[in-house]
Amino acid sequence: VKILLIGFGVVGQGFVELLRDKAQELAQRYHLRPVIVGVATRSQGTLFHPEGLNLSHLLDAAAAGGLRQYPDSEGVQRGEDIKTWIQRSEADVLIEASATNLETGQPALDYCMTAFEAEMHVILANKGPIALAYNELRAAAHMVKRVLRFEATVMAGTPSLALALDALAGSTVLEARGILNGTTNYILTQMHQGQPYPEALAEAQRLGYAETDPRGDVEGWDAAGKLLILAATVFETRLTMHDLQVTGITGITTQDIIDAKQAGECYKLIAHITPQGGSVQPVRLPLSDPLASVSNALNALTLKTDVMGDITLIGPGAGRRQTGFALLADLLVIHRTQAAALE
Ligand SMILES: NC(=O)c1ccc[n+]([C@@H]2O[C@H](COP(=O)([O-])OP(=O)(O)OC[C@H]3O[C@@H](n4cnc5c(N)ncnc54)[C@H](OP(=O)(O)O)[C@@H]3O)[C@@H](O)[C@H]2O)c1
Repeated sequence: VKILLIGFGVVGQGFVELLRDKAQELAQRYHLRPVIVGVATRSQGTLFHPEGLNLSHLLDAAAAGGLRQYPDSEGVQRGEDIKTWIQRSEADVLIEASATNLETGQPALDYCMTAFEAEMHVILANKGPIALAYNELRAAAHMVKRVLRFEATVMAGTPSLALALDALAGSTVLEARGILNGTTNYILTQMHQGQPYPEALAEAQRLGYAETDPRGDVEGWDAAGKLLILAATVFETRLTMHDLQVTGITGITTQDIIDAKQAGECYKLIAHITPQGGSVQPVRLPLSDPLASVSNALNALTLKTDVMGDITLIGPGAGRRQTGFALLADLLVIHRTQAAALE
């Protein structure tokens, strides 16, 4: 399977690391031999080798400053415009792991459309295109009989979308409620242990949970983007940010936390969605609520269904290998689908 990868930051590198470390298992157990033929980033442009780039060299280059550090050898090509690079690649799968833009979804949305035009499958870690243009992407995939996957976009490698869309197919999901942002959950957990907000935020940044600019996390927009993805995919309803009430955690004071503790409760940033709309807001939960015990950077999602009642999934919602794994899981789904179609 020939792969193009856009974005070689935390997630892209986590994915390549997994391909390198699991190469033998993937070949033996799943008969999957993935080859990364190209990698592109915003500041370092495109890198391409028709027979495949060396995974260890890619990771070494990233550690040494970026793709330009990848050794020049016969067959290595650089510096194309990304769309041309996709069109000419003859790759099977595009993996989109570049920075999320929740206002336009661009340029990732155009990259995905170009990949479908070139009859490639598409896997995203990037939330923007799915949150804003799921129907268009699905139609484009359908048109060329290719697969669109995006497990990484909600709860990283914890299989929230595989649960809701694949495992629970046939049981109607009525609503979803959960903790969908690890940074804010970490900060609130630390605040409940007595740390003031600025220190908890600094710690979250030091541990790599929070972005350098953490506003998307702490103001609730990251969780809201995930709700739009759940609405589009699980409820097949196109909602926009205007349909959601979004409040982050920046207004929560140390006194609020003390008051909640005294009442036997704790604050969680709860994301909630139904087919009609949704919200992201700090909520005081009794300690008996299953979501109250989801601490630190963990995420959780409860799906309310007609047949199965409530099903709750708890697991990592971010991280290098944890998100890279979601891309690998999607790649395996595509590989199995292709293998089944050929039988
Ligand atoms: N980190 C997580 O745990 C996690 C979890 C779930 C989903 N995600 C999503 O996965 C994606 C990647 O996250 P990350 O943590 O790996 O981010 P990151 O470390 O900031 O890396 C982003 C990568 O995307 C590249 N990029 C940015 N804009 C681009 C553009 N216009 N064209 C081509 N490449 C571009 C960057 O290149 P330069 O460095 O050259 O700018 C960089 O290589 C994001 O959409 C994020 O929301 C992340």
